[in-house]
Amino acid sequence: MKIGIVGIGALGSLWATKLKQAGHDVLAITRDHSQRSIAIALDEQAEFEIPANDLTQLSTCQTIIITVKSTQVKQAIEPLFDYLASNIPLIFLHNGMGALDQLSDQWNQHPLFLATTTQAAFKPSSQQVKHTGIGQTLIGAYRETEKLTAQLESIIQVLDSALPKVMWHNQINDALWKKLAINCVINPMTAIYQCKNGELLQPQYQTEVDNLINECHQVMQAAGQSPSLSELSTTIKQVMLATGDNFSSMHQDIHHQRTTEIDFITEFLIKQAQRYGIEVPNHQRLFQKVKQLEE
Ligand code: PAF
Repeated sequence: MKIGIVGIGALGSLWATKLKQAGHDVLAITRDHSQRSIAIALDEQAEFEIPANDLTQLSTCQTIIITVKSTQVKQAIEPLFDYLASNIPLIFLHNGMGALDQLSDQWNQHPLFLATTTQAAFKPSSQQVKHTGIGQTLIGAYRETEKLTAQLESIIQVLDSALPKVMWHNQINDALWKKLAINCVINPMTAIYQCKNGELLQPQYQTEVDNLINECHQVMQAAGQSPSLSELSTTIKQVMLATGDNFSSMHQDIHHQRTTEIDFITEFLIKQAQRYGIEVPNHQRLFQKVKQLEE
C-alpha cells in the first residue's frame, strides 16, 4: 500500500518506519516542502530513507495519516487540498478536540477520520525514533456520514499489521473525550509544576487532580459521556502510572518554548462547560497559567 504521513514528529516517524518495515511505500510530508527525502532509524535498527514532499504523489496514496499537533492541523493540510483525490481517507491523529472543525468547507466532500492512540514514541534526534510504549490505536468517523467501508477496512488491516493494535471504533467521540480528560489533567499540571506524569500521583497534587477530574466528569456527563467519576479517575491515574517516567507533550512544548495544545485541550473543555452552564474554575486557572508560560 502507498501511505502518506503528514508530520514527522515522534508518532509520525513511528508510523513511517513501522510501515516501511512492513514493506509499504511511504511518502512523508514535512513542514519544509523543499526537503526531498528524510532518513529515520527506528530504535536500534538501520535508517530508512523515505521520499518526502513530492506533492504530485499524494493522489496515488491509498490513505494519508496526519500526525501533526492539533495546533498545526489547519496549516499543514489546507495547502495539500489540490493534490488529494476526494475519495482518499484522511486519518487525523492528535491530542485534543476541535481541530478539524477549523477546516474550510472545501473538505466537506472528503472522507475524514479521527484516531487516538496509546502508542508512545520519543524522538531523541531528527533521525531517530524510539517506540517507548506499546498501546492501541482507535479509528472512527469524524462525521456520521463516514462509514467503515471495505476500502477503510483494508487500510485498517494494513495499519494493524504494521503497528498493532489498530481497530475501528463506532463511537470514536467516546474515546476522544476520555483522552481529552486525560490530557486536561496531566498535560497542564506537568507543564506548570515541571514534573513527570507519574509525579502527579504524589499526595501534594491529589486535591487538585481530584478537583480537575471532577470538573471534567461533569462536562462529560453533560455531553452525553457515560463513564462514572470513579472509572474516569481510575483511567486517568492509571495513565499517570503507566507513563510515569514520561514528560507529557505539553511539558515538552513549554520546555522547548513551543506553542502548546492548550487551546484544543483545556480551552475545548472550558467552551463545552460554558455551553452546558457548568463552572470549571480549576481548568480555567490551569488554562491561564499555561497561557502565561507560553508567553
Ligand atoms: O500528551 C501526552 O503527553 C500524552 O497524551 C499523555 C497520555 C498525557 C502521556 O504523556
